[in-house]
Amino acid sequence: MHVAVIGSGYVGLVAGACLAETGNDVVCVDKDAEKIARLQRNEIPIYEPGLEPMVRRNQEEGRLTFTTDLGTAVQAARVVFIAVGTPPGEDGSADLQHVLAVAKEIGRNMNGHKVVVTKSTVPVGTAEKVRSAVRSETKNGFAVCSNPEFLKEGAAIEDFMKPDRVVIGVDEDEAKAVMGELYAPFTRQGGDRILFMDIASAEVTKYAANAMLATRISFMNQMARFCELVGADVNNVRRGIGSDQRIGRAFLYPGPGYGGSCFPKDVKAIIHTADSLGLSLDVLKAVEDVNEAQKRVVLHKTLKYLGSDLSGKIVGIWGLAFKAETDDMRESPTIPLIEGLLEAGARVQTHDPKATDSARAIFGDGVMYAADPYSAAHGADALLLMTEWLVYRNPDFERVRKLLRRPLLIDGRNLYDPDRMTALGFEYHGIGRGRR
Ligand SMILES: NC(=O)c1ccc[n+]([C@@H]2O[C@H](COP(=O)([O-])OP(=O)(O)OC[C@H]3O[C@@H](n4cnc5c(N)ncnc54)[C@H](O)[C@@H]3O)[C@@H](O)[C@H]2O)c1
Repeated sequence: MHVAVIGSGYVGLVAGACLAETGNDVVCVDKDAEKIARLQRNEIPIYEPGLEPMVRRNQEEGRLTFTTDLGTAVQAARVVFIAVGTPPGEDGSADLQHVLAVAKEIGRNMNGHKVVVTKSTVPVGTAEKVRSAVRSETKNGFAVCSNPEFLKEGAAIEDFMKPDRVVIGVDEDEAKAVMGELYAPFTRQGGDRILFMDIASAEVTKYAANAMLATRISFMNQMARFCELVGADVNNVRRGIGSDQRIGRAFLYPGPGYGGSCFPKDVKAIIHTADSLGLSLDVLKAVEDVNEAQKRVVLHKTLKYLGSDLSGKIVGIWGLAFKAETDDMRESPTIPLIEGLLEAGARVQTHDPKATDSARAIFGDGVMYAADPYSAAHGADALLLMTEWLVYRNPDFERVRKLLRRPLLIDGRNLYDPDRMTALGFEYHGIGRGRR
């Protein structure tokens, strides 16, 4: 099938590559000419495991191309995905200017019946706005579908190739058949994983999923704070509740607060939509408040143990990205942490296996970017673990302790065993691990 994907960021690029992998002819479009030129040379602008070889292979075999020419791509396509960004507006609502601009351009280039699919995360009602925008530019017949994306950065290829489910909001039989055909190769194993539904429900499903996941995180972060007050270890509590099948084990890890390009903006956006309809989503407002407070927890612990004036002090940070296996720094809790440390007068030495370039775009030369984890710990008065990269799981702790000026270890991800760290000579503090 001929497919056009408009927007070649995390979502568009992964979707385009995976759709090409299953034999479709895919054209990925972006307005960023430099990004397209790099992609044509198989240079992937983001770090995503497995993506580079897939792009290379499909480009070499002629099923995947990159262009800035939206018109030609749309004209050749049976299905057109809109996968551009939907950043938060000033009031927290999702900014639809890119989605609707693309819809109009699609309309201007219609040359036969097409299925126009919103893959960007968009508020309920957006598919109808897309329909009107396309309709305003063409007399051709077309269908509109909502197909929200659930991939996780860092495991995006795996998630797209073997999805838990594919949600498709559709109100027309032909478009339903086309979308079913396109997704069949990804859903053959494990029963019928394509969930067809009405368009509004598909749009809400994406926000409800992210809101639920964010809620679990904020819930566990509050439990962690409670555990600290009462001398319990949240890690034990997590194991204790996760084994209940009604609760499940996933997404019960406390940490330095959620970040990334999705949870913060999507929670804000659904709150905004509901507010505009006169419904206050109080649970989600609390989820946001808890997360804002949680993003300061590692900073507060650092100031508690090192004092509020950090001039002359060096702080090492392991991990900059908002989670492991990505170079994405969007809304990373490390950003307010570093700002707070610099404000208190500290010198900051960071290490991240992939996110150094993204961090440099934010902090410039304001912090040191070490080439390896040990250099970030060298001479530091505290070491803060912020991202759960594998490389930090079992380092040479003896060496780390000796490199530190003070063996203060604040584990923002609860990666380490408190007793083992104490036995190794660290002053260990995790998140919600008793009174430590
Ligand atoms: N990143 C994720 O993990 C993830 C997961 C699920 C859903 N989403 C949603 O998918 C959407 C895209 O997210 P992303 O992370 O891929 O964003 P991104 O910022 O990485 O990529 C968006 C791309 O769209 C391009 N673009 C913008 N306007 C354009 C136009 N008029 N014509 C052509 N290209 C244009 C930009 O240049 C950019 O390359 C968002 O709505 C997001 O919420 C993201």
